[in-house]
Amino acid sequence: MNRKTFLKAGSLTGAVSLLSGSNAFSQNMVDNDMDKLVDANGNYIQQPLPYAENFLEPYRDAETMHLHYTFHHGNAVKGANKDLSMIQKAMNDNNLETVDFWTKKLSYHFSSHVLHSIFWTNLTNKKTTPSGDLLKRIDKNFGSYDQLKALIAETSKNVDGNGWGIVAYQPCSDSLVVLQCENHEKLTQWGCIPLLVIDVWEHAYYLKYKNKRTDFVDALFNIINWDNAAQRLNTAVKLMK
Ligand SMILES: [Fe+2]
Repeated sequence: MNRKTFLKAGSLTGAVSLLSGSNAFSQNMVDNDMDKLVDANGNYIQQPLPYAENFLEPYRDAETMHLHYTFHHGNAVKGANKDLSMIQKAMNDNNLETVDFWTKKLSYHFSSHVLHSIFWTNLTNKKTTPSGDLLKRIDKNFGSYDQLKALIAETSKNVDGNGWGIVAYQPCSDSLVVLQCENHEKLTQWGCIPLLVIDVWEHAYYLKYKNKRTDFVDALFNIINWDNAAQRLNTAVKLMK
């Protein structure tokens, strides 16, 4: 199995990450309605930030953005490439003793790559609110936008250790769900497609908000790009039809 075939097989069981091509960030972030996470040779690649590092100030400071994007996301991409190569090496050497270790590492690093790639596009420098089909589904599945906001905020604030709050589309029930993810890869529900992700790793907020994760999550609602979440929903629903 070569690298490309391996990646293809992996993508069938891994997280699905989507974004409509009509998005303002499409030039940097998407390819054929999917987040561009992999190049033509099967190497994981990090796309440029879709805005300047100070674009989200005052809610997210430029220094945090620089460190977060360059080192935390960037190192996850490097790590995922190494993990994949080590699995391939083990297969080529016909010695699978280490694949348990590298498979766990790959899950961690690749999931970080997926979620960070979505996170950058989920943010903008103005306040937005859900509309259209997204709002209809929010009302149907959670009662109201305010109730979803309370649920995703509470879920994000209470992650044990580092992790993410996630609003996702669940194809089998044709509904929206809220997930609480630990690290980058734990506590998922298979098949769900992330639409909105909230990074509550300490690296996402500690320089500006110190130990006050609650303040950080509340502040994020000033810069969440609900239009991006709505486009991701449209793409996910279309793909699953
Ligand atoms: Fe992060």
